[in-house]
Amino acid sequence: MGAPSAARRRALGLRFRLTLSYVILFTILVLGLGLLFRETLDYTLQTNASAILDEEWAAVKGYLRVERHRPIWFFDRDDQEEAFIVQRLRRVFLLTDALGTVLEVSPDYVELGVESPGQVRDILQSGKTVDRTRYSHSGEPFLVRTGPHLDDGRKEFVLSIGRSLARERQIVDQFMQQYFAVVPLLVFGLGIAGWAMAGRALRPLNDVAQAASSITGTNLSLRIPSRGAGDELDHLIERFNAMVDRLEHSFTQVRQFSIDVSHELRTPITAMRGELEVALLTAKTVEQHREAMMTAMEDCERLGKVVRTLLQLSQAETGQLTLASESVELGAIARDVVEQLLIAAEEKNLQLTTATDPETWVRGDQVQLERLVSNLISNAVKYTPEHGKIDVSVRAKDQEVILEVADTGRGIPLEHQPRIFERFYRVPDGEPNPEKGLGLGLSFVAWIAKVHNARISVASAPGRGSIFTVAFPRIDARSEPVLHPGDRIVA
Ligand SMILES: Nc1ncnc2c1ncn2[C@@H]1O[C@H](COP(=O)(O)OP(=O)(O)OP(=O)(O)O)[C@@H](O)[C@H]1O
Ligand SMILES: [Mg+2]
Repeated sequence: MGAPSAARRRALGLRFRLTLSYVILFTILVLGLGLLFRETLDYTLQTNASAILDEEWAAVKGYLRVERHRPIWFFDRDDQEEAFIVQRLRRVFLLTDALGTVLEVSPDYVELGVESPGQVRDILQSGKTVDRTRYSHSGEPFLVRTGPHLDDGRKEFVLSIGRSLARERQIVDQFMQQYFAVVPLLVFGLGIAGWAMAGRALRPLNDVAQAASSITGTNLSLRIPSRGAGDELDHLIERFNAMVDRLEHSFTQVRQFSIDVSHELRTPITAMRGELEVALLTAKTVEQHREAMMTAMEDCERLGKVVRTLLQLSQAETGQLTLASESVELGAIARDVVEQLLIAAEEKNLQLTTATDPETWVRGDQVQLERLVSNLISNAVKYTPEHGKIDVSVRAKDQEVILEVADTGRGIPLEHQPRIFERFYRVPDGEPNPEKGLGLGLSFVAWIAKVHNARISVASAPGRGSIFTVAFPRIDARSEPVLHPGDRIVA
């Protein structure tokens, strides 16, 4: 129960984290947008207000005259509209002379604070009209425009008019209040939607985990069905299934291997037991006993050989065998091995020839390379009937060194060719074979070729002979500065 609940907790954690990231991102976005709206609204309203102020500024200059240091408003007093306009213009209003003496000021302006003589001087010096936002005692904002005014015989005065921004402020505040009242609701809604979405997105992941947990060593045929969405998860499933494929293949191989091993060991043991039993019951003379013992010994030897070779092969394939990495001349190895096998070949009246190029250097382990060559040539000797011919050649071709062992022997039927490199695989030949091999030689050859980055191939036709070819990467022995006899080659 522990594992599923832990998996559930993990999935929950991931779901929660996903949702949380949505919510945080969204909240930041919504808040940012809100502030942006506010700034835009504020800016628009301000621009609007200052446009109105432009008109009012022009209107003031139209209605106001200063004569003998006194402000006079010129307008048609019977025109109600004009009277109203002038009244509005004078609501937030200040007029001073160049020394800062107030000529006219409205009560609202007094509340904002009348400019000091120093400020008046600065304004006249700069000669510029400036807009500023100022606040009354009650905190009401006003947009105030202040600037020089020429009149009364080209004398300089300072003129200030203003507009209350209370309405604009109120609009912005109202917008903010409404907007930010909705934000928590939005975020909450999104949280719920995000939670549901994350759950949906993660469901296939949980399905995959469940399917994976039902795959066991004895049940490797199970595959996780693809969802057909072609997305990352399908890719994961595909990779996962491929991994199970490989596992299944290895498991089958291991199982087959154990069956083969037991079979290989049982046959000589059964034979030995039978012979000894018969001898025990029927042998009378010393000679008959001796014979039974001799046969038993032969079987024992074969058993020992199987076990020894298997052990070496397992060590090799699991990488427990330390391999040297040195410059080796393959041609020399071929000549040596041929020399060792000449007697065996002569016994069968076989013609064994060698042809080697100079400078056939490869990088690898001398002992293992000898084993490879020896296995191939002894197979040729073993599977070629009397008066046959075996040609061994080592050629240096471009970037490769090519070893070829060609015989005129019995050949290998096409359907068996892919399997001869498997452990214990022997081509069934129909006739009882007195010197039956173990079927392990070519497994070794294949492994040695692999760790030397060599390609191995076979061309053969029944009754016409076989050609085994191994192509090694060629090295230039002179450019090999240091030899490392102890170096390992990684399989
Ligand atoms: N040159 C060849 N001509 C014909 N058949 C061959 C040749 N080389 C290999 N074979 C076939 O391939 C099989 C596998 O060869 P392999 O060398 O692995 O095993 P083996 O020779 O039977 O036993 P050992 O383990 O003693 O070498 C042989 O049993 C034989 O049937
Ligand atoms: Mg062999």
